[in-house]
Amino acid sequence: MDENSANRHVVHHTDVLIIGSGAAGLSLALCLAKRSNVTVLSKSGTSAGSTNYAQGGIAGVYNTCDDHDSVEEHIEDTMIAGGGICDRSAVEFTLKNAHDSIEWLIKEGVPFDEKEEPKTDEQSPYHLHREGGHSHRRIFHAQDHTGHTIQDTLINQAAQDPNIVLLDHYNAIDLITTKKLGLAGNRVLGAYVFNIKTNQVETILAKFVALCTGGASKVYQYTCNPEVSSGDGIAIAWRAGCRVANMEFNQFHPTTLYNPNDRNFLLTEALRGEGALLKRPDGTRFMPDYDERGELAPRDIVARAIDHEMKKLGADCMFLDISHKPAEFITKHFPTIYERCLKAGIDMTKEPIPIVPAAHFTCGGVMVDRRGRTDIECLYAVGEVSYTGLHGANRLASNSLLECVVYGRAAAEDILARLPIAIEPPEVPDWDDSQVTDADEEVVIQHNWHELRLMMWDYVGIVRTDKRLERALHRIKLLQSEVHEFYSNFRVTSNLLELRNLLQVADLIVRSSMKRKNSVGLHYNVDHPEPPKDSRPTILNPFENM
Ligand code: FAD
Ligand code: SIN
Repeated sequence: MDENSANRHVVHHTDVLIIGSGAAGLSLALCLAKRSNVTVLSKSGTSAGSTNYAQGGIAGVYNTCDDHDSVEEHIEDTMIAGGGICDRSAVEFTLKNAHDSIEWLIKEGVPFDEKEEPKTDEQSPYHLHREGGHSHRRIFHAQDHTGHTIQDTLINQAAQDPNIVLLDHYNAIDLITTKKLGLAGNRVLGAYVFNIKTNQVETILAKFVALCTGGASKVYQYTCNPEVSSGDGIAIAWRAGCRVANMEFNQFHPTTLYNPNDRNFLLTEALRGEGALLKRPDGTRFMPDYDERGELAPRDIVARAIDHEMKKLGADCMFLDISHKPAEFITKHFPTIYERCLKAGIDMTKEPIPIVPAAHFTCGGVMVDRRGRTDIECLYAVGEVSYTGLHGANRLASNSLLECVVYGRAAAEDILARLPIAIEPPEVPDWDDSQVTDADEEVVIQHNWHELRLMMWDYVGIVRTDKRLERALHRIKLLQSEVHEFYSNFRVTSNLLELRNLLQVADLIVRSSMKRKNSVGLHYNVDHPEPPKDSRPTILNPFENM
């Protein structure tokens, strides 16, 4: 990569620009770096994405499995959790590639927990967890901080690789495409990026670009996602001309720690896999009233049951109780959660933990094929930003990290095959901010940001109605016009960029929700309770008038 700062505008050149440094971006980068140079962007620190916070683990049927498990059963569990509307070919592709992808992670150095008991040659040496919707124990994990362990391992590998440049605190604003420049076709040429440290917009030119920006759960008031999950990649791809699919399916995790001032700490589903029970404030169980699988029903069902019980009883929270298990077992398997609860004044070895659902995962996203290719030539999308068809109406627990690695590896293979004949991007105009000034009223951004997220929680949450969706769309349009005016007249800031993207994603979620006239998985509309008649995804196309 070289830089040219002759007239203050910095221009970088790279073979492949990867926007995002979570499991998706780093898997892709490490596989590409064998034969190409790669620039990896993070809009905050390099480990600030959701990957770092994943607890439960990564699902996959690996070698000989203890429990007579099979890839076919993993496929069936995924289809059932997804409400039957997953794309079966994507499910088969992903889960058949689980073994090789988990093996790749192990070779990169990820230390998954091993069994303690003596191992035999026929058995997998790994200790496997079970989570909701899984018929077998098949979750590879590193205690209850699997994501942190994966993130750490991959970022260390990337930092040592001479072909990978890691640029942190760089916020991608928009893609540069031939179409936007009035040239033929619609090929990506790079991106305009905001350097947060210098407050300057720079240009990165690349033969290929991959969006690995994670999900959009920050569009909701209560979320267990980190700050960076503002759906930037989805908004950026949409503005550049990519179709998006299934945006109505935002997953709410049933169990985050209830704390009136802080509702973002996840309590892994593996707790329920190890026997934790969901209880009302009076100590009675309620899940058997909703589903015969009880606490291990898929998460859309559990989250809706909790929401229903809270509303029925007027309660602020429900409870998760694992105190019947030996204290030593709890502290050994769930040390991070144990410590965090203790800090909040709860000893989970002795008492139930107060919980509430929170926005967790974006099942829809930028449409891609099996190689991660989007609608735009040379543009890829990998990880939570993408829609591959794997998750359908509700993601099966621990299938996301797997999707990041499987598609990261597949996209790398495709890019490396195309690289020898790839075209160098032409010169492009510098970012022009000669007509704009510094914003005078930051309060507008702050106000609209709070209003949007609360409105999404109240109107487009776990249970929806036609009327609430209409109200939400109306509010979004007003907020969008205010933010558009800001964007046209003032210099960009990180807050403005984020609000613009959150509004775009909110608009896509609401429009997808309005388009789906039935209820399935994570999308429950009381005005249309009937299930869908077919398994087609909800597709929005930026070139169609909606
Ligand atoms: P992320 O890891 O979110 O990374 C996104 C990257 O993009 C970041 O580096 C960010 O800085 C960067 N970025 C974003 N926007 C921009 C921009 N405009 N410019 C530059 N950079 C940008 N899944 C499982 O399979 N198993 C689990 O056990 C599990 N547990 C979870 C627990 C929690 C608390 C959460 C929040 C999620 C969990 N998930 C789990 C889901 C899973 O962690 C994520 O889906 C997955 O890690 C997403 O990886 P990613 O690489 O796509 O995105
Ligand atoms: C969890 O550990 O409960 C989260 C698993 C996931 O989201 O896949």
